[in-house]
Amino acid sequence: MNQHIRPDLQTVTAVRHWTDSLFSFRVTRPASLRFRSGEFVMIGLPSAEGKPVLRAYSIASPSWDDELEFYSIKVPDGPLTSRLQHIQPGDPLILRPKPVGTLVHDALLPGERLWLLATGTGFAPFASLLRDPETWEKNAQVVMMHTCRDYADLAYGQELVNSLQADPLIGELVADKLRYYPTTTRETSPYMGRITETLASGQVFRDLGLEAPLDPARDRAMVCGSLAFNKDISALLEGFGLREGSNSAPADFVIEKAFVG
Ligand code: A2P
Repeated sequence: MNQHIRPDLQTVTAVRHWTDSLFSFRVTRPASLRFRSGEFVMIGLPSAEGKPVLRAYSIASPSWDDELEFYSIKVPDGPLTSRLQHIQPGDPLILRPKPVGTLVHDALLPGERLWLLATGTGFAPFASLLRDPETWEKNAQVVMMHTCRDYADLAYGQELVNSLQADPLIGELVADKLRYYPTTTRETSPYMGRITETLASGQVFRDLGLEAPLDPARDRAMVCGSLAFNKDISALLEGFGLREGSNSAPADFVIEKAFVG
């Protein structure tokens, strides 16, 4: 099995384990692959017998990067991640080069304050969007909220956010515009509580010194998390008058499920 027989085959270039259950990895990028920040592709591992198991993964790297980065949970008996968590640099990875998704700037109407709302590995598409100059050019303020059960689960997002200010493309814009609100729900940390709770109670506005409440005249949101989170946050955003948008009908917020293999 080689590149000639399998044009979708890429090569793993780096793997980093963040906790016992979270890792990120980088792979070569097909020369022809173009994508919008926030989109996802299908990836999988070659299998000796039968059809390979493919799963949707948000691209976590920015569109200008030579390689592609992904951020994943490790599920011990997961059909893909039980194997994927053992990948090493040099290993082959199947990547279907057809990026799609709704967490894209094109699906939002112009606004002033963009809320990026993630639970767990739902941070992945925002790792791409936060490094995209368009995110900073289009919005006066960007609020990145990320909630995990434990403090260590926030590390990938924290390192990414910390790296932004040194980024030559966007560093200066980030310093003025970004508000970052990492919270935990099961372990004590500086900020605590579910995204839904801190938005509803106004705690996040008070902690960050932001104007409340959410207002469809200025606020836009991109959401990526578990099914339960997506459902609850949709209801909350709609309660403030924001409407869900799509590629064909841009509006005030967009939602994508965080993918689990
Ligand atoms: P909690 O610990 O209170 O359940 P998970 O690991 O289950 O995917 O959850 C990731 C994070 O998302 C956890 O901090 C969890 O909080 C939070 N979460 C789970 N479900 C919801 C929901 N329906 N609304 C808001 N936050 C949620």
